[in-house]
Amino acid sequence: MPETARANDTLVQRSRHAVWHPCSQMKAHESQPLLPIARGEGVWLYDTEGQRYLDAISSWWVNLFGHANPHIKAALVDQLDRLEHVMLAGCTHAPVVELSERLAALTGLGHAFYASDGASATEIALKMSAHYWRNVGRPQKSRFIGLAHGYHGETVGALSVTDIALFREAYGPLVRVSATVPSPDARAAAPGVSAIDHARQCAQALQAHLEQHHAHTAALVLEPLVQCAAGMAMHDPEYLRLARALCDRYDVHLVADEIAVGFGRTGSLFAHQQAQIRPDFVCLSKGLTGGFLALSAVLTTDAVFDAFYDDDTARGFLHSHSYTGNPLACRAALATLELFERDNVLARNRVTAEHLSALAQPLIEHPRVRDARQLGMIWAFDVATDQPDFARRYHAAALQRGLMLRPIGRTLYFMPPYVIDDDASRWLVDGALAALDATP
Ligand SMILES: Cc1ncc(COP(=O)(O)O)c(C=O)c1O
Repeated sequence: MPETARANDTLVQRSRHAVWHPCSQMKAHESQPLLPIARGEGVWLYDTEGQRYLDAISSWWVNLFGHANPHIKAALVDQLDRLEHVMLAGCTHAPVVELSERLAALTGLGHAFYASDGASATEIALKMSAHYWRNVGRPQKSRFIGLAHGYHGETVGALSVTDIALFREAYGPLVRVSATVPSPDARAAAPGVSAIDHARQCAQALQAHLEQHHAHTAALVLEPLVQCAAGMAMHDPEYLRLARALCDRYDVHLVADEIAVGFGRTGSLFAHQQAQIRPDFVCLSKGLTGGFLALSAVLTTDAVFDAFYDDDTARGFLHSHSYTGNPLACRAALATLELFERDNVLARNRVTAEHLSALAQPLIEHPRVRDARQLGMIWAFDVATDQPDFARRYHAAALQRGLMLRPIGRTLYFMPPYVIDDDASRWLVDGALAALDATP
């Protein structure tokens, strides 16, 4: 394209030419325009024309306390005056030490390894688990188990435990596919079977798999309580209790991927805490920095750490990323944790959730809604439709009503920032209902 034409192009057109957008078929943007966002404040995003949209999915589940949150912003400004970055190999700094100590106190897992995104955290947990077994003299334990419809990111290693065909199929030859056991998704319970009994049945299937394959299995990887990318599939905490017991019995690590469900999303600070279990690895990202900066962490036990602690370099965990433990990102995470304490967020969220659930009653009772469900600050509604492109059309209808919503298949869901107030909740439900009626 000639320079002059390029200069006259809108931001959206320039983006289509220069930016390869994630999770997108770029050609679709010929007819579905990108949304040019100029700024954000609280639960609202503002486009370049000044039009506002309620960010009802927290910008892919990362934003906890609203856009431009002043407390996190102030911490970052302060950190910018001190240290923007230093490599974490051979160096350390206060934000990473303080964050690691805080996370250890919150989870009982005393060793934190850092990366920048969720998929990298999955990679690290998989590598650390397999390397642990190698270091303790059991190198044959190198296979993994995931749950049906599980999602753990899209790098080649993370795809090995991600059971979503659309994301994995094209890379089949590259991916060392893991075993998949049935998902305890309560919606899949047979008629008359309760969620807890369905969880028990699925745990039996896990047991049958482990009985046969434990000698070659390093870890079970799961999203505790809600498989978000599967369409907010929720399960009973009993599954986590039983999975923990089975992993103990068969000497298999339990990896809790709390990347989406951590930091209060399900009502507790971490979802696995509702089952009163301690995983061997916890993966964190998304809400870790309140949605400000890319950071992920893998927390693990003394037992795992000790198996790497040696005079021999090759027995160490040599994985690294250039931005591992970035001080700005760690400061944002510390400020996020401060907000949880300062504002008693978990208690406040219970009140927010009650209000939003009450407002959502007409949606729950809508004749096209099935399996309405809620846990903590997650609401999901399966919509009866025979239109395969329901999600795309609903997204467009919601945008017209000032709402950022992206259904997953036929599942419409809300995952708003925790600072959503009653007026914004009403805006959300009214707009979601109107968009539903406008989208057959
Ligand atoms: C449970 C879970 N794990 C891992 C990931 C991957 O995180 P990222 O997109 O930061 O790579 C996601 C992203 O949605 C997720 O929901």
